[in-house]
Amino acid sequence: MIRYNTGYLESFVSKEEFDGIAKEVERASQDLRNGAGAGNDFIGWRDLPLDFDKEEYARIKAAAKRVRENSDIFVVVGIGGSYLGARAVLEMILGEQHNELCKPKVYFAGNSISSSDLSDLLELCETGDVSVNVISKSGTTTEPAVAFRTLRNYLIRRYGEEEAARRILATTDRSRGTLKKLSDEQGYETFVVPDDVGGRFSVLTAVGLLPLAVAGVDTDALLQGAADYRKKVHLDDSLCNPTNLYAAARNILYRKGKNVEVLSCFEPRFRMMGEWYKQLYGESEGKDKKGIYPSSALFTTDLHSMGQYIQDGSRFLFETMVSFKDTGSKLKVNEEKVDFDGLNYLAGKTLEEINQVASDATLRAHVEGGVPCSIVEVERADAYNLGELIYFFERSCAVSGYVLDVNPFNQPGVETYKRNMFALLDKPGYEEDKKKLLK
Ligand code: PA5
Repeated sequence: MIRYNTGYLESFVSKEEFDGIAKEVERASQDLRNGAGAGNDFIGWRDLPLDFDKEEYARIKAAAKRVRENSDIFVVVGIGGSYLGARAVLEMILGEQHNELCKPKVYFAGNSISSSDLSDLLELCETGDVSVNVISKSGTTTEPAVAFRTLRNYLIRRYGEEEAARRILATTDRSRGTLKKLSDEQGYETFVVPDDVGGRFSVLTAVGLLPLAVAGVDTDALLQGAADYRKKVHLDDSLCNPTNLYAAARNILYRKGKNVEVLSCFEPRFRMMGEWYKQLYGESEGKDKKGIYPSSALFTTDLHSMGQYIQDGSRFLFETMVSFKDTGSKLKVNEEKVDFDGLNYLAGKTLEEINQVASDATLRAHVEGGVPCSIVEVERADAYNLGELIYFFERSCAVSGYVLDVNPFNQPGVETYKRNMFALLDKPGYEEDKKKLLK
């Protein structure tokens, strides 16, 4: 069960301040529950863990089984919400070295336009049999489209049209878009990004579930964790609801000039969860010239770099630490007859215990340095708890966005660079934009 611990916030946020914002949070929470807030046609993620397409889920599992049997390499092509969730959960559960330890190897492509990255991937593809999952809700995003064109071409050259078609799985809109059209023409099996679920909220749809099932993650447990957590928090609009309390704390701190949130964690395998959180909150809240800037840090690694700034730099930060009680690994420090490195005082302790002490020490130091800190406490680093954690962050994000008075479900700002890029690349239809840009 996720706990949101505000103990370390006491010297920064008073009870009166929480009482003061409670009404606004209550309204935001109600709006989300009643579908009365901005962007309410994009809140399908809210009920997804309870109310998902069971027939499609069975197809996801069957497809995953087939890929696991016939492929050594699985390439997931997508950008933003179409890859971050899957990669974040995969690395959190299987670790950053999963490709050295597990089969099939899972690689991610189409999240940049880097030629060298794609060349390296093509070289890797030569080391085994390959399947590809192309994910794009719109079906038109340039980065995944370019990577998919290259990979599709590679598969056809290597396996022939028919076998290539069996090795391509497409996750896209139910009925519209270029990718859906191509898939139907070529006979690729398709999976759906529901209309009412935006990319960054889509990890518990086929977007996340298919790659995760292929990687061997327990998707049943992931969904169950999210479903159970949803049942716990959905009906409670008060600050006793941890998702509301977190939204309240963020907004109080933001109004006091704390414009940057550092999401910290003491587990390196949380790295991509940090990236997922940054997209979720950055795209949801950063608009209308408002919003907390989401950043992430991995400790103790970053205590030897950004730690200096967090402790001692400009005071516009607050920190939210994600803490896993049980990481599933119980390595201990061994005893040495000759205490050559002076570490015998740690002998017999697990690294997990030492890491826990390091995190307590860090929190105390940061609070002393003037950084408001709070903790998201997670019982275990497993799929079930991760399902809870995903739902915790998604719901808090929606409530927090409503309190901030923005539409948390659109992303108008993402379009500007695309328009400029299309104009400069001479995409038909962008001639006027190019003229304006060059002027
Ligand atoms: O959250 C979002 O909506 C975006 O980050 C999208 O996921 C991203 O732009 C990719 O879009 P698409 O799935 O249409 O290729």
